[in-house]
Amino acid sequence: MKIGFLGFGEVASTLTNGLLNQGADVYTCVEGRSIKTKQIAKETGVTLCKSNKELAKTSDILISSVTPVQAIKIAQEVGKHSKGVYVDINNISPKTIKKTMSFIQNNKTVDAAIIGSVRQGLDVQIIASGKYAKEFMELNQYGMNITIVGMELGQASAIKMLRSSFTKGISALLFETIYSAYKMGIDEEVIKYIAKTECEGFKDSATSRIISSAVHAKRRYEEMDEVTELISENLDPKMSNATQDFFKSLYENINKLEKRPDSYIDLFKIMEDLNKK
Ligand SMILES: NC(=O)c1ccc[n+]([C@@H]2O[C@H](COP(=O)([O-])OP(=O)(O)OC[C@H]3O[C@@H](n4cnc5c(N)ncnc54)[C@H](OP(=O)(O)O)[C@@H]3O)[C@@H](O)[C@H]2O)c1
Repeated sequence: MKIGFLGFGEVASTLTNGLLNQGADVYTCVEGRSIKTKQIAKETGVTLCKSNKELAKTSDILISSVTPVQAIKIAQEVGKHSKGVYVDINNISPKTIKKTMSFIQNNKTVDAAIIGSVRQGLDVQIIASGKYAKEFMELNQYGMNITIVGMELGQASAIKMLRSSFTKGISALLFETIYSAYKMGIDEEVIKYIAKTECEGFKDSATSRIISSAVHAKRRYEEMDEVTELISENLDPKMSNATQDFFKSLYENINKLEKRPDSYIDLFKIMEDLNKK
């Protein structure tokens, strides 16, 4: 089975590493892409196609892992050439999924969503919906962890978006709370007392969430667009708007971190230094 990736960033390269180890045939195209993407593809050893058109014609399963804002554009570009099953794995809303898939002329489409961070490798949980989800699930033979959640496009992405609404909202709240506690010199105590009513390992998970919020602030800000769109179909998205504002100002505040800080204290010190400048 030939597996193709449109876009070759963190998701595509991580999954490709695992798939190649399991003996799968993996393809991508990096024509016109950044030096970083070209370098990642070279290191991975994925087979390169000359164009996205060739990639779409070659792949039995074609996975779109670009960025949320590019999902529609890339589907438009390859839609009439896709001969196999087209899987969109970008963080986009059910409405955007349906628009994206309207460009895939053979209608063999799957709505898919990664639950958690792809850094887990092939084990990362992927949920899928749509009439062709069963074909996509055949990749489990190479060690992927795909579960079907429904037969309609939009079901997997709705689950993902609503989960994001919760996890990103909690992360924003946690960041604000612990940063205020740190400024007052009571962060250890605040964490200790929150931990009493939260789960075991709260301190570690809180630290990881705070640091990831800063590292991925821009991506989270952009992804909240799709979340607020979905929530607004049901009610006024006050909480998700606030979460989006939070990640926007965090990104503007720290812009791009050069490396992932080891602790939330290191991160808060970096923020203080930046604010002094
Ligand atoms: N990383 C995760 O753990 C994770 C988890 C869940 C969902 N996702 C979703 O999965 C998707 C991919 O995420 P990622 O972390 O792999 O992103 P990433 O590291 O930023 O990689 C994006 C890749 O897409 C390429 N690209 C952008 N626009 C393109 C276009 N029009 N045509 C072809 N290639 C294009 C980029 O190339 P350039 O370098 O040239 O721009 C880059 O290679 C995103 O939609 C994200 O929301 C990611």
